[in-house]
Amino acid sequence: MTENGKTTDETSVVRRDRFTGGPAREFMSSLAADKRIFSADIAVDRAHTVMLAEQEIIEDDTGRAILSGLESIESDGHGALPDGEDVHEAIETELIDRIGSLGGKMHTARSRNDEVATCIRYRLRTDILGVVEDVLATHDVLIETASANVETIMPGYTHLQLAQPTTVGHFLLSYASALERDIERLLAAFERTNVSPLGAAAFAGTPFDINRERTAELLGFDEVLSNAMDASASRDFLVETVNAITTLATGMSGLAEDLVLFASRGHLILGDDYASTSSIMPQKVNPDTIELVRAVAGDMIGEQSAIQAGLKGLPRAYNRDLQRVTPHAWRAVDTVSEAIKIVGGAIEDAEWDGDALGKAAGEGFGTATGVADALATAGVPFRQAHEVVAKASAAAKGDRPSVDQIEDIASSILDEPLFERVSKEMIEDALDPVENVKNRDSYGGPAPSTVQAELDARSTAHETYQQMVISNRTSIEQAASNLEMEVDKYVWLYL
Ligand code: ARG
Repeated sequence: MTENGKTTDETSVVRRDRFTGGPAREFMSSLAADKRIFSADIAVDRAHTVMLAEQEIIEDDTGRAILSGLESIESDGHGALPDGEDVHEAIETELIDRIGSLGGKMHTARSRNDEVATCIRYRLRTDILGVVEDVLATHDVLIETASANVETIMPGYTHLQLAQPTTVGHFLLSYASALERDIERLLAAFERTNVSPLGAAAFAGTPFDINRERTAELLGFDEVLSNAMDASASRDFLVETVNAITTLATGMSGLAEDLVLFASRGHLILGDDYASTSSIMPQKVNPDTIELVRAVAGDMIGEQSAIQAGLKGLPRAYNRDLQRVTPHAWRAVDTVSEAIKIVGGAIEDAEWDGDALGKAAGEGFGTATGVADALATAGVPFRQAHEVVAKASAAAKGDRPSVDQIEDIASSILDEPLFERVSKEMIEDALDPVENVKNRDSYGGPAPSTVQAELDARSTAHETYQQMVISNRTSIEQAASNLEMEVDKYVWLYL
């Protein structure tokens, strides 16, 4: 007995007596996973039925009976459906059960192949917008936290070695702009998802005078996916969406890794809600939550590979392999949404230790490049300036050399006293992490003045993407209420 076990031991009206499913019955069924597209399927059934009636392919009274039946099936929910190969078959069986053989007219001029493709697209487009909203919430946290830390000096690393001082603001905005590209990829996937395969039938069209534009409009799709074989068989929109999600998760795993490292150095103090402790070592505050976010990229690569492996080599047109591909996309959507919310919450809740960060930025000789830049600004060829500073660094054994040490080495390499070319103050400034950062005010650099401008750009982008989500959501909602009105005309006899 399954959850939807109403007719487990019987054969559905759609499958007829011959096709019992036998021992493969449960293996073949996607009914449980199809819970995700239950509402989508009801909407698709409604739009198709309204169109059939409008095109006079079915009588208005038949349309009314079908639409009323769907109404009650919807309110009873997915759990009340009879057993079946999938939600499409179960709803049709239930409909025929409730309204009699007239219900069998609903499936005129369509197939489960175009039906399922439409349901997946219908549901996924909203899910994509949900992911974008979650990304935007974290994008906002990054902007806010960056804005509060435009002047918070921190050590910047390459190869995990202290490289140059930067600011927490600059660091966080680096992830904010990466998230914007994730949003763009997701919105591009949304566009290609939001097209209607309905009316393609099995793959080969239908002799009925259907109106594919009308069903696309009733379901709020931007356009019709024209070639019927392409429409029913293609799942590249799943690949594209989950690729965008995987890229997002990969970027997030880097952010998570950075947070774990900063926490391990005591530069970032995670809030208790986002930390865990050790069952044995009482002093420990571990970044477990962030480590789990870091691991999500692995899951996503798995879902992405499963989708691509499932689709590879599939011939035209529909093949049942496709059924096993779909749930990977749902898992990807749900997991990434959760992870991006968690990482945003953790950042919002955490505290950056400005003193510890400033101290770490001043350790070693992270300001070396700035000193070389100061020499080069004064006309010393950069390669020679690099040599001077490298030697000064070696002389100071990796620590910050003194101005005198730099002067000695410079004078011997350059064959003239250093301070004929550069003021002592310039070297002192370059050696100081705060001044060093302030000097790097090139476009996109970490100087507070530059980061301030970047903050504005990020906020403007935020607003733009927010509007795009709102407008897409609005057209989907408008289509849904329009469809409801069309359905009501039949159900409540307004015709
Ligand atoms: N449950 C199926 C899926 O997810 C629906 C389509 C079945 N079509 C068929 N011709 N067997 O793909």
